[in-house]
Parts: sequence; structure tokens; C-alpha cells
Amino acid sequence: MNYEQAEKLLKKCGQEHVLAYWKKLGKKEREELLAQIATLEPKSIAQCQGALKTGADVPDSSKGKAPKVAVLKGKKLAEAVAAGEKELKAGRVAALLVAGGQGSRLGYDGPKGCYQIGPVTDAPLFYFHARKILARTIRYGKPIPFYVMTSEANNEATVKCFEENDYFGLNPDDVFFFTQGMWPGMTKDGKIILDKPGHIFMSPDGHGGLLAALKRSGALADMKKRGIKSVFFFQVDNPLVEIADPAFVGYHVLNKSEYSLKLCAKRDPKEKVGMPMQFGKTFRMVEYTEMTDEQCTRLGKDGKLYFLYGSPAIHVFDRAFLDREASKAMPLHLAFKKIPFVDAKGAVVKPSEPNGYKFEKFIFDILPNAKTAAFLAFDQKDEFSPVKNAEGSDSPATCRADMQAKWRRWMAECGIQCSDKVPVEIDPVYAVDAAELAKIGICLGAE
Ligand code: UTP
Repeated sequence: MNYEQAEKLLKKCGQEHVLAYWKKLGKKEREELLAQIATLEPKSIAQCQGALKTGADVPDSSKGKAPKVAVLKGKKLAEAVAAGEKELKAGRVAALLVAGGQGSRLGYDGPKGCYQIGPVTDAPLFYFHARKILARTIRYGKPIPFYVMTSEANNEATVKCFEENDYFGLNPDDVFFFTQGMWPGMTKDGKIILDKPGHIFMSPDGHGGLLAALKRSGALADMKKRGIKSVFFFQVDNPLVEIADPAFVGYHVLNKSEYSLKLCAKRDPKEKVGMPMQFGKTFRMVEYTEMTDEQCTRLGKDGKLYFLYGSPAIHVFDRAFLDREASKAMPLHLAFKKIPFVDAKGAVVKPSEPNGYKFEKFIFDILPNAKTAAFLAFDQKDEFSPVKNAEGSDSPATCRADMQAKWRRWMAECGIQCSDKVPVEIDPVYAVDAAELAKIGICLGAE
């Protein structure tokens, strides 16, 4: 893109001020600014400006009902596992990781997936995800292609982490990196914010940016070519997640679901977690900020919380559903933040109060578009312990403790004694569940 093209595009979007400092910029700065401008789409800019005018479009959730959530046991569990294993053996399951976030609460300098979480080995979060995928690949004899969404800010470091670790044992041909989009930050009146005279402030477009990125990068086409039917979605910060868990995949397939969600019981009525609710024949994720106190504490006939189950963002999507949704515009969520800006004299100012908006898309906003949805309960302690904060709740310390507690439960089930004082870690390829550990445990015992 050259200067004239940039000027034309900006004019179309009402953003001519972006070139205000052009004359003061060096050659490299000019090139970088033009490259940024080239990524701006008039349609998206108009969507952001529209969202600023209308504000967050929060639909009324007062008529929402709790969805039917399955708790699988006995025969039903066995049926789901068998159906899931059939899909895995046929190579129809993919893993999809969103790892493009900025991880600002953790304050770690690098992609969150590189954060060292292994209690004994200091292995990074990516290690646990990749090794679980490898374990199931070995068990079922078919690759589970692994699609990893990064952002412009962390793509290079993410790919490097995989390369330096030999892809954690995975076949590089089955790992697909793709980068999510970026949105410019805007003032209240819809003007793009420059955080340096030659630089637009941009931030990742949220995990909902996944859909457009899947399409743009060719990842969706790759899934189709490989015959993928079910796509297991998860977040980078939860090393407890059971990736491509046969019971969940099977439950999804048996229900002919387009969008399936694993849900866990809230730990306390006001826990900050999104809740899927039913509105007539469709479902929608209602954020905790949208729920009234009455909804948070309402009791059902069984005396338990009526809105009991929250979503830790563990999903299975039908691949064709993702394909269908990928070309549609998604709603925007606004976040009012402190964004550095350039003042009238061209100096950079770091504001002490929020001054501008970031825009994000959330993947669960496609839930109402699913023709069929399914909800499966699981036990939080077994599958969800995210690394969000540097300290306190949902921190590396709580996550390492939860990882070890899970492995200790497996060991106890297998009759392996282990003192609480000894740190434990199990490579998922060694044993991906308690049953696998039991087989190895018996061998060890026989030695
Ligand atoms: P979070 O909402 O926890 O955000 O992301 P974050 O960026 O990791 O952390 P904070 O809020 O800055 O502290 C949940 C999941 O969604 C991914 C993250 O990588 C994480 O796996 N995500 C989030 C993206 O892939 N892209 C985004 O733009 C935002």
C-alpha cells in the first residue's frame, strides 16, 4: 500500500488524522504505518463505530431458563465413550487452541503457552496440551490435527517454542499455526487512537476472532480436506483440560450437536463465570455481569442452585457449523481502557484514567446460531484450573496444586502410595488417565 492508497482508505473510514504526523516519520515508521493501515477494513471500522454509538447490546436475560445438562454415568457414559472412540479411530477429531490472548493479568513476558507450569519439570503449558494430543493419537492410531491460534504479538515466539521442543513429539505436519486479527482502539467518538505518531494502537480481536482467522488462514479448508467432523476447542491457560475426551466427543456426536459445552457446577453463587441459558428453542451465553442477584442465588426444586452450571470454555464444534458461521459478522464487546495516545504536539501521553475502547469478539456468541446444542457436566477439580493471575486464586500456585492433586487421585486409584510432600508430575504420554496408569502401575508393582 502506498501513501495515496492509505489516504483514500482512511478518508473512506473518516480517519484521515491517522496520517497527521506523516511528515515527521522516518522511512521505517512510514512503512510500518502503511502496513497497519492496509489491515483496516472500512466495514469493520464502521462496525466498531456503530458499537460505540449503540453501546454494548445486552439482551434481556430475565426470561432465561437453565438448560438440560447431562451427567454421564454407567451405560450412558460407556455409550458416549464408545461413540467418541469411534470418531478418534476414524481420524475425524481435531484440537483447536486459542492462544492469542495478552495474558495481562499473569504479567508474563511471552506467550502464555510458554509459561512453565510443570510441578517437577517446569514444562510449559503447551507441553501438557501437545502431549495429551500425542497420547490420544498413539492410543487411537490416527492423528488429531492441532490448530493453534496466535496473535501478531506472540506468533513468532509460539512457533519458536514448538520448534525448540521438537513439537513436543507431535508430527509438525499435523500442527497448524494461524494468527487472529487485530482491531484498532478508538476514542468515544470513533476516532482511531495513535499510540505513537507513526503507530496505531491495536489489540487482538478476542477469541471470537477465531472464526474469521480459521477461514482466512485456510485452517477450515485444511480440516475439511482431512475429513474432520468434530473440533475440540480449549484455552491455553488450563492444563487440566482433557483434550479430545472421548466421552465429550461421543456425547456431542450422539446428540448430533453443532455446539457442545462442558459445564461445571459453580463453586459459589456469585462465581464470575458465564452461564448458558435457554430462550425458547435457542441458547445464549449470559455473562455473570448480566445476571441479577436473584438469578445468581435462585434455588431449583432439588434445593440446588437453579443456574448451577457455568462454562469454562471447553467446547466441541461441528466443523460444518464453524464453516457456516465463519463468514458472518459477530457482535462486538467493548472494553473501556487506558490507552496511550499522541497529544496535539505529537507527544505520547500515558493516561491515568480510561480514555479509549478496545473491541473484542467472543466465540460463545455463535451459540444462538447452533441448530442443536448439548451440555455435559464435569467435575471442576478434574478438568479446570486456569492460570489467570500472578497470585491468589487461579494462579500458577493453585494450578500446580490442582494438577498434582489430580495425579495423586489417579495414583491412589491404582494403589500407588505417594507422600503429599513429594512433588508429582505425569507425562500425558506415559498415562493419559487413571486406567492407563493402572496398567503401568501393575507392571511397576510386579517388578
Ligand atoms: P482471557 O480472557 O483469559 O484473556 O483468554 P488473556 O488475554 O489470556 O488474559 P488477560 O485477560 O489479558 O489477563 C481466554 C483464552 O482466550 C484466548 C487466550 O489466549 C486464552 O486461551 N484469547 C483471548 C485469544 O486467543 N485471543 C484474544 O484476543 C483473547
